[in-house]
Amino acid sequence: MAKTLSFSCSACGARHARWSGRCDACGEWNTITEDAPISSGPAGKSLGNKRGRAVALTDLSAEETPPPRATSGLAELDRVLGGGLVAASALLVGGDPGIGKSTLLLQAAAKFAQSGLKTIYVSGEEASAQVRMRARRLGLADAPVQLAAETNLRNILTTLESEKPGLAIIDSIQTMWLDTVDSAPGSVSQVRAAAHELTTFAKRHGISVVMVGHVTKEGQIAGPRVVEHMVDTVLYFEGERGHQFRILRAVKNRFGPADEIGVFEMTGSGLSEVVNPSALFLSERGTPSPGSVVFAGIEGTRPVLVEIQALVAPSPHSQPRRTVVGWDGGRLAMILAVLEARCGIPFAGLDVYLNVAGGLKISEPAADLAVAAALLSAREDAALPAETVLFGEISLSGGLRPAPQTENRLKEAQKLGFTAAIAPAGGKTGTVDGLTLSRPSDLVGFVGETFGAG
Ligand code: TYD
Ligand code: MG
Repeated sequence: MAKTLSFSCSACGARHARWSGRCDACGEWNTITEDAPISSGPAGKSLGNKRGRAVALTDLSAEETPPPRATSGLAELDRVLGGGLVAASALLVGGDPGIGKSTLLLQAAAKFAQSGLKTIYVSGEEASAQVRMRARRLGLADAPVQLAAETNLRNILTTLESEKPGLAIIDSIQTMWLDTVDSAPGSVSQVRAAAHELTTFAKRHGISVVMVGHVTKEGQIAGPRVVEHMVDTVLYFEGERGHQFRILRAVKNRFGPADEIGVFEMTGSGLSEVVNPSALFLSERGTPSPGSVVFAGIEGTRPVLVEIQALVAPSPHSQPRRTVVGWDGGRLAMILAVLEARCGIPFAGLDVYLNVAGGLKISEPAADLAVAAALLSAREDAALPAETVLFGEISLSGGLRPAPQTENRLKEAQKLGFTAAIAPAGGKTGTVDGLTLSRPSDLVGFVGETFGAG
C-alpha cells in the first residue's frame, strides 16, 4: 500500500496534502515540512474496543461551576487570565524571543508559589543555576518555587505525577521532545505531540500547565499557532524592541474575556506592573504639534489613552509610501480613500506615515476618527487644540458612528487632565463634568469644525 504523506506549516499549523514552497493558509515561505507518520493501529479495525464514557449533562455536580481560580497577586496578569488561573487548565504564552516571557513566568511562578499554589518551573532552555541567577536578579531568590531543567517530556510528566503541583510552567514547548515521535525537538510533530500530552495530563491530574512558545519566522521551529487550538487560554506577550513597555494580551480564553490586556514595564529588576497605562503611553508626548492626536481607546475592560502620530510629506516616488506601525494598513487605506472621496481631500503624491506611540497595537475601529484627525492635522500642518481626545468609527459613506463605552473613555480623559473630547453623536452617553464635548455627525462636519474649510 502506498504510504500517504501529510505536510504541515510550521508557522500556522495548516495541513497540506503535498509540499510547496509557500503556505497558502498564512502566506509564509519555506515553512511546510513533512509530518512524521502516525501509526494507524491494526488494519481493518476502525472501532476502538473500549467504550468512551458518556455522562448526562444534568449529572454533573453543580459545585463544579464556576471554576476555582488561583490569583497570583499580579493584578495585570490576573485580569488578563479573567480573574485568576483556573485549576486544571492549559495555557499558552507566546511571544518573540527575548521579549520577556521567561521573566514574566518566573515572576508569576514565584507569586503563585508565595500565595500557596505548589509551582514547578521546568526550563528546557536554561540550566537550573541560570534560572536561579535570574530569580536572584528579580529579587525572588527565596520564593518557594521548584526548578527543573529537563527536555524529555516523559521525565517531566513522571516528576509532575509524583510532585503533584498545582501549576507547572514549561519553558518552552519547542524544547520538549517525546521519544515516541520520530523527529527533532521543535518540529511541528514534536510540538504538537508534546502540547497534546501536556494538555491531557493537565486535565487528568488537575494541574494547570503554562506552556511558553516562541514566535518564529524561520520555519525551522514550529510556532505557537500549532498549539493554540489545543489549549484553553492563549496569551501573547508583545512589545517593541527599544521600548520598555510590554503588553500581555489574551487572544483566546475559555474562562474569561478574550480582549483583555495587562501592561508591564521591563526594568533592570524584572517586569513591574503599570497601573495607569494611559499616563505611561502619554508620558513621551510633548507640546501639541501637527500630526499628533490623542485617541481614547478601550482595551478589554479598561480605557487606555494613546497618542497617534502621522506624518504627511510630498513623495519623491511614483508610488507614494504608506507606512503603519501599531495599526492596520488596510484600515489606513480606507480612511485615506474616504477622506478623498467624501471630503475632497486628496493624498495622492503624498507619503503617509502613521505610528501608535509606545508600541501599543490598536485594533479598534473606534480609532478611525483619531487617525483621520492625525492625517489631516499633519497634512494641513495645523495642531489640534491641546488637551483634546478623539474617538469614533468612520463608515465608507463618510458617516461617523459612536464607539462603545463612550462614558468610560470620557472619564479616563477627564482623569488625565483633558478638557475636550470629539466623539460622534448618537448612542448613549452621560456627559462627564469638566469636558467640552463636540459631537460631529459626519466626517465633512468634523473636518469643517476642526480644520476650518479643510
Ligand atoms: P527573557 O525573559 O529571557 O525573554 P524570553 O523568555 O521571552 O526569550 O527576557 C530577555 C530580555 O529581558 C533580555 O534582553 C534582558 C531583559 N531583562 C531585563 O531587562 N530585566 C530583567 O530583570 C531581566 C530578567 C531581563
Ligand atoms: Mg525564555
